[in-house]
Amino acid sequence: MNKIETERLYLRGFVATDGAALHEYLSDEEVVAYEPYKAFSLEEAEQEAIRRSENPDFWAVCLKDGHLIGNVYFSKGAFDTWMIGYVFNKAYWGQGYASESVEAVINYGFASLGAHRITALCNPKNEASWHLMERVGMRREGTLKKNVYFWKDEQGNPIWQDTYEYGLLKEEHENN
Ligand SMILES: CC(C)(COP(=O)(O)OP(=O)(O)OC[C@H]1O[C@@H](n2cnc3c(N)ncnc32)[C@H](O)[C@@H]1OP(=O)(O)O)[C@@H](O)C(=O)NCCC(=O)NCCS
Repeated sequence: MNKIETERLYLRGFVATDGAALHEYLSDEEVVAYEPYKAFSLEEAEQEAIRRSENPDFWAVCLKDGHLIGNVYFSKGAFDTWMIGYVFNKAYWGQGYASESVEAVINYGFASLGAHRITALCNPKNEASWHLMERVGMRREGTLKKNVYFWKDEQGNPIWQDTYEYGLLKEEHENN
C-alpha cells in the first residue's frame, strides 16, 4: 500500500474497516454541505470505506496515532492533469492538517506521478476550501457561472451553482 508521511500525519490507502472513522465526519451536515451527496448513515459509510479501499485515488489522512481525520482525493485526467479534492473531520479543522496533507499529495503528484498540472474546483461560498487552495500555492483560473447543480428545488428545477477553478503547474510549484 502506498504511504506518504508528513511531519504530523501519514496518508495511506483506505481499508474496508475505515467505515466508523469515515462516518465520524461524513455524517456531519456541515462537513458535506458543499459535496454532491448528503450526510452518510453508518451503513453507508461502511459501504463507502469498502468502495474507497478499492480505489487508489482516495487517500486516508491519519494522525501519527492512527486516527483517521479526513481524506484527500487525487485523480488523473487527460494531459497529465490531476484533480485534487479533500474533506476533513470538523474536530480537526483550523490546525493546518488539511493544508499539510494537500501539500504532501501535490509534492507526491509532481515528484512521483508525472503530474504536469494540478487542478481543484469549489463553490465560491466555500471559503475554507479556496483559502486552502491559495495557501498551498494554487492560482484561481476562473469562475464558471452556474455550471453545475447537485440538487433540485421543490418544483424540480436545478439549483445551479458557480464554481471556482484553481490550477497549479509543476514549474510554478518548483519556483514557489
Ligand atoms: C476545506 C477544509 C478541508 C479546510 O480545512 P481547514 O481546517 O480550514 O484547513 P487547514 O486544516 O489547513 O487549516 C488552516 C487554518 O488553520 C490555521 N493553522 C493552525 N495551525 C496551523 C499549522 N500548524 N499549519 C498551518 N495552518 C495552521 C491556519 O492559520 C489556517 O487558518 P486561516 O484560514 O485563518 O489561515 C475543511 O473546511 C473541510 O473539510 N470542509 C468540508 C469539506 C469541503 O468543503 N471540502 C472541499 C470541497 S471543494
